[in-house]
Amino acid sequence: MSFDFDKVIDLRNTHTAKWDRMASGLQITAPDAIPMWIADMDFRPPPAVTRALQDEIARGVYGYYDSSTSWREACCAWLDRRHGWPVDPDSISIAPGVVSVLGMILQALTRPGDGIVLFPPVYHAFRAIIEANDRQIIDCPLMEVQGRFQMNLDRFAAELPDNARMVIFCSPHNPGGRVWTREEINALADLCLEKNLILVADEIHNDLVYPEATHLPTALAAPQILDQLIVCVAATKTFNLAGALTGAAITPNAQMRQQIDARIKAAALVSNNRFGMIATEAAWREGDEWLEAAIAYLQANRDHFAAGLTRAIPGARVMHLESTYLAWVDFSGTGLAEDEIASRISDRARIGVSPGRQFGPGGAMHARFNIATPRYWIDEALNRLSDAFSDL
Ligand SMILES: Cc1ncc(COP(=O)(O)O)c(C=O)c1O
Repeated sequence: MSFDFDKVIDLRNTHTAKWDRMASGLQITAPDAIPMWIADMDFRPPPAVTRALQDEIARGVYGYYDSSTSWREACCAWLDRRHGWPVDPDSISIAPGVVSVLGMILQALTRPGDGIVLFPPVYHAFRAIIEANDRQIIDCPLMEVQGRFQMNLDRFAAELPDNARMVIFCSPHNPGGRVWTREEINALADLCLEKNLILVADEIHNDLVYPEATHLPTALAAPQILDQLIVCVAATKTFNLAGALTGAAITPNAQMRQQIDARIKAAALVSNNRFGMIATEAAWREGDEWLEAAIAYLQANRDHFAAGLTRAIPGARVMHLESTYLAWVDFSGTGLAEDEIASRISDRARIGVSPGRQFGPGGAMHARFNIATPRYWIDEALNRLSDAFSDL
């Protein structure tokens, strides 16, 4: 089957946050602005998802959703088929998305004032959910070594404050797309054991990995941590279903799971969103072929964007993505001030990007570009950037 990722779909005025929130979120009001910020794709999802939703619409009755058994089976079958990770269906807690379940995990297993370790620059919603729950962020900044991010675990071990209780680990990493190696995951797990920290691995980007790398589930790479491990997964990032707001936390530790489930219950989230469940189950069951095609398209976008941007903006550097469609661009070599760079991108080029500072320490002088869009928009963005920085 072929999938038309080149198709430009007009998403303006469709309640699509990436397109319709540029004015309020980024103060970009140009009518022809290109959104390369929020992490969803401008592609249609696997046809099986649309079919499953159409079948539901045809039935036309939308009562409370019951029994997540088939959804759990589909989730486990996917994790086993794609990642060789056998998961017990009963070890899954279902929630309205990964960030939502991270909030529940924080509330269930830590107390206000507790320290939560992050490896910035990292997905900004981690910072927001920790702060919203009155926990304290402990930053352990990544190091860039030969153009790749690395964790600085020596610093982690040496500087860990007494209030540290938990680590939120992004695997693969957003931004920059690092796929962590077995050795790196093991070293982190060993430190968590030594320091008695719960390890929360957000593996939402696990499927969007390019052929040169292989994602290793934390549970397989570092089985020694299983009793202190919670892994977050979802079908929403993989299959462009972010609006389905459905995700899961997996932990083999029954006590931790009961505590998380108690929070889910306390928030009265025991009935799941019918449309989210249907869409994500269909994707896991029948989305393999679409995913292969999407990865190939994204890989070509990745290479095209990196080559084009380096030509368009002398001094700019694009981190090589092993996974994700979230390109991390370093502008420090341009010689321009940060404000100037930001205004050239948003005012002159009329492109909405995620400002690097949002991702915490190490984010200054960077921007994150979402390249999961038809090639047409990538080319248009590159042309505009070339004009906006033509004096360099
Ligand atoms: C690392 C990471 N976790 C979680 C999310 C969002 O997950 P959800 O929509 O399920 O809350 C994102 C979205 O970009 C992400 O990059």
